[in-house]
Amino acid sequence: SDQSLIRNFSIIAHIDHGKSTLADRILEMTQTVASRDMREQLLDSMELERERGITIKSQAVRVFYEAKDGQTYQLHLIDTPGHVDFTYEVSRSLNACEGALLVVDASQGVEAQTVANTYLAVEAGLELIPCLNKIDLPGAEPERVAGEVAELIGEDPESILIISGKTGQGVREVLEQLVERVPPPGGDRSAPARALIFDSEFDQYRGVVAYIRVVDGVFRKGEPIVAMATGSEADIDDIGFFTPAMTPVQELSAGEVGYLITGIKDVTKLRVGDTLTNKRRPAEEALPGYREVKPMVFCGLFPINNDDYADFRDALEKLSLNDAALAWEPETSDALGFGFRCGFLGLLHMDIVRERLEREYDLELMATMPSVSFEVTLTNGEIVEVHNPSDMPDPARIQEIREPYIRASVLLPKEYVGVVMELCQERRGEHAGMHYLSAERVQLHYDLPLAEIVLDFFDQLKSRTRGYASLDYELLGLRPSNLAKLDVLLAGDPVDALSMVVHKDKAYEIGRNLTEKLRKKIPRQQFDVPIQAAIGSAIVARETVKAYRKDVTAKCYGGDISRKRKLLERQKEGKKRMKQVGRIEVPQEAFLAVLELG
Ligand code: GTP
Repeated sequence: SDQSLIRNFSIIAHIDHGKSTLADRILEMTQTVASRDMREQLLDSMELERERGITIKSQAVRVFYEAKDGQTYQLHLIDTPGHVDFTYEVSRSLNACEGALLVVDASQGVEAQTVANTYLAVEAGLELIPCLNKIDLPGAEPERVAGEVAELIGEDPESILIISGKTGQGVREVLEQLVERVPPPGGDRSAPARALIFDSEFDQYRGVVAYIRVVDGVFRKGEPIVAMATGSEADIDDIGFFTPAMTPVQELSAGEVGYLITGIKDVTKLRVGDTLTNKRRPAEEALPGYREVKPMVFCGLFPINNDDYADFRDALEKLSLNDAALAWEPETSDALGFGFRCGFLGLLHMDIVRERLEREYDLELMATMPSVSFEVTLTNGEIVEVHNPSDMPDPARIQEIREPYIRASVLLPKEYVGVVMELCQERRGEHAGMHYLSAERVQLHYDLPLAEIVLDFFDQLKSRTRGYASLDYELLGLRPSNLAKLDVLLAGDPVDALSMVVHKDKAYEIGRNLTEKLRKKIPRQQFDVPIQAAIGSAIVARETVKAYRKDVTAKCYGGDISRKRKLLERQKEGKKRMKQVGRIEVPQEAFLAVLELG
């Protein structure tokens, strides 16, 4: 196909600002999908994605658009995931494009992911076409929001398009601007072949489907290829593009976007960000920017019913086929039994995996407190990575502990600046700047330990700002902190599942909290049961479950209502299941209460 008539673009937007709806409208207007066949939000294909209303996997659709200049353009719409955990995937998807539609809800304004994705797009050198969406809403404030967008990208507010993905208003103009302003892909058709893998997924029958953007040369069916970073080799079994149905072709050439299937069955062999080349005539240099994504957040997952262990392992194996970022290894806990220590990109990723395990694989799971990956220098100079608080070396052997830090960007109405600063201070945050987007809206920067975010930062942020704040963050790297492992002891025996790594300044408060909660949940025994929180041999908090008298009733807890109800139901069942910790029988619900209800 004629390279000068190709346009590759993404839609970038904050969650719920209307990306999928606009994509649907574009497919409809270009007659890619007949209106009557139009499924709502065609691009969000997974069930969970639909239910949660967030986009997890990127996809790529080819459409043809006959522009006012009489030419028919071949547009590739590359969908990007819209959440902070998937920044690397977003950046790869954007690297497959020359332009992006920047969609902002005209009734809401610029939010954290709008800013984060705009920066990624600018970094990738994309031509941005700003659009104010949902202009049909009575609450739309195009002038105010145009001001914010103009401030963000340094463009004249007059030039910002005013559209509605719902009614279709202005969408044709979007396509016109797209073909006019976004440059056609560069790249040399006669050079050795190179393609960027910007996403991949596992198909039960066909193996890994790699989503590719051909940068140079031509990829043909039957040819042998190599992935330059991982070294994986295979022959191209099938190559084609999405309409959104898979449409096989003989070849894809420089500038084109599509899929490639090789029979490789393992997503970790065709990784997002890797460069494919032809084995017989390989390119000299891989495309820039490849990086192996590393899990940052860890938690132990244990089947509530021990008989489910084998099914759980199967489920993790199946999920991993589709998710190169999911890590897991067996973990045994005295208190919780056999399970797996799982690693995730972030909190949302963790929630998604857990929900899929419970829903698609019908497992009931108990999760330990999420923690981050620490780097520890021992007194003998050795450096170890610790993914599980209970693996933290003996304090006497530790020289320094480093923890991951992030730079958080919070967008919020100015009246909430005070409460958010307070929250960030409580979480060991360091103020890193503040910036007015408009007279009303502020962007606040804080450097925070990731460990402080994984607990309930997001919930706290939402509730303290009545949902008006949005959050995005990027990793800064590791920093030394004054950390220590806090153990919980029941009648003198440590409960491995409850160990945490905490900042020493907070150890007392956290310890008191934990011991208090446990006291309320542990039934009385024939004898007094001491519950202690300790750092090494130093006891920082202590409670006692007095010997038999009367039963204690459960307290109310904060947090999300539906999740809480589900957990409470589960607790009821958990009451029947007892775990042995030393001499003490502990109902499983006690662990659930401490681990999950915060
Ligand atoms: P993520 O997949 O979470 O990133 O969301 P999204 O940006 O794809 O948003 P989506 O298209 O799912 O739209 C979010 C909500 O806004 C849905 O309820 C849409 O029906 C609604 N919506 C989208 N565009 C418009 C619009 O132009 N006008 C109005 N009134 N509602 C819209």
